[in-house]
Amino acid sequence: MPGIIVVGTQWGDEGKGKATDQLGGDVDMVVKFNGGNNAGHTVVVDGESYALHLLPAGILSEKATPIIGAGVVVDPDALFSEIEAMEARGVDCSRLVISANAHVIPPYNRSLDKLNEVALGKSLIGTTGRGIGPTYADKMNRTGLRIQDLLDPELVRSQVTLNVEAKLRGFPEEQIPEDFKKDFEIDSIVETLVEYGRRIEPRIVDTSLLVNNALEAGETVLFEAGQAAMLDIDHGTYPYVTSSTAIAAGALAGVGVGPTLIDRVIGVAKAYTTRVGSGPFPTEMHGEDGEHLRDLGGEFGVTTGRARRVGWLDLVILRYARRVNGLTDIALTKLDVLDTYDTIQVAVGYEVDGIFMAEMPVLQRDFARAVPVYREMPGWKEDISGVRRFEDLPTEARDYVTFIEEQVGCRISTIGVGQARDAAIVR
Ligand code: GDP
Ligand code: IMO
Ligand code: MG
Repeated sequence: MPGIIVVGTQWGDEGKGKATDQLGGDVDMVVKFNGGNNAGHTVVVDGESYALHLLPAGILSEKATPIIGAGVVVDPDALFSEIEAMEARGVDCSRLVISANAHVIPPYNRSLDKLNEVALGKSLIGTTGRGIGPTYADKMNRTGLRIQDLLDPELVRSQVTLNVEAKLRGFPEEQIPEDFKKDFEIDSIVETLVEYGRRIEPRIVDTSLLVNNALEAGETVLFEAGQAAMLDIDHGTYPYVTSSTAIAAGALAGVGVGPTLIDRVIGVAKAYTTRVGSGPFPTEMHGEDGEHLRDLGGEFGVTTGRARRVGWLDLVILRYARRVNGLTDIALTKLDVLDTYDTIQVAVGYEVDGIFMAEMPVLQRDFARAVPVYREMPGWKEDISGVRRFEDLPTEARDYVTFIEEQVGCRISTIGVGQARDAAIVR
């Protein structure tokens, strides 16, 4: 089973890090293919919790080579702090390699990300403020800086100068708060980036060649997504999305492999739904009900610490995620979080202007006003965290799982019942 893609099916934080880590023992390479340190993947191993942002979850595997692919945007400050923090905890980061073509997040893009949000006022996206959007914009605009460019000090200087001057035309210096000004100082940016280039040089590889060779030799490569289908730049709830391709197709473009080398696409789905930042969310729970589920699930962001918005499971979204990703199977996570409910609601469709819809509305304005049509299911009112075999789950929990499979038309291959690496039922 050589080429496996792991993607998020909702709005992120489904438990992709844990799903990736669980497969880690049998995997030769783990490649991050999109996004950057906007991601926050928590992995719990032997009671120790690790929060990964830019590093692929494969860093925690003893055998796998962790790889940062061409589709990722790399903030070198964040990269080296994360490596140092991991190494201080005894995690070996020496095998990590980075694509020569990955783009670099320069400090001015971090500042601009935050300033853009302030300018949007009430319409803000609620970004993570890591400079993701501005850096992908530079990439598309063909003014970005790639990892390989850091090896050429003259090129760094000309690109940084060009960018800072252009950006200051859009955001005049007097509008930039004092504490952001250092992020626009050309000399110090150039000096820092060139130094980072020297440190990154030994890790630079052609990740496409590396991964293709491994797949052709029959090795197992896991492609780990950041974010999720509903945050995808093309297929998500635009403009309330991230700026990269977070669906399975992103693994191909973001690493440089062809679709014929992919055997399995695992969609990670939380047993309910969460979202961080602004944008429509049909099954959102407000008030005390929302707070209760947020507390049960510990739904606070790994990257920004923000409280996640929470709601019931939405099968329209899962059907959509199955389709846009071509999922072969689903890893259902956090089923244990629903242990105490008398009844559980699941959205099987939406009603818009009195018309029932089982598929995602074509127009987002319809999605934004869609009224979920719920199926009420009985809860199991039992602690399932110790269960390791599907047949040992309470009937109501099994019914919940099989109902999702039928409704989405996709097999559920693992069921998460806790944070730990082994807290899962594999079917
Ligand atoms: P990711 O961004 O998709 O990797 O997900 P996050 O790490 O941001 O959020 C998922 C959270 O749920 C993490 O704290 C995980 O440790 C935790 N988690 C994952 N699977 C399970 C599960 O099956 N049960 C419980 N209770 N927690 C889980
Ligand atoms: P993981 O990989 C949840 C959200 C932000 C914001 C929008 C745009 O842990 O699932 P950005 O900084 O990317 O420009 O923000 O996307 N967002 C995430 N939400 N999980 C993530 O990553 C996210 N990465 C970005 O909250 O709404
Ligand atoms: Mg996360």
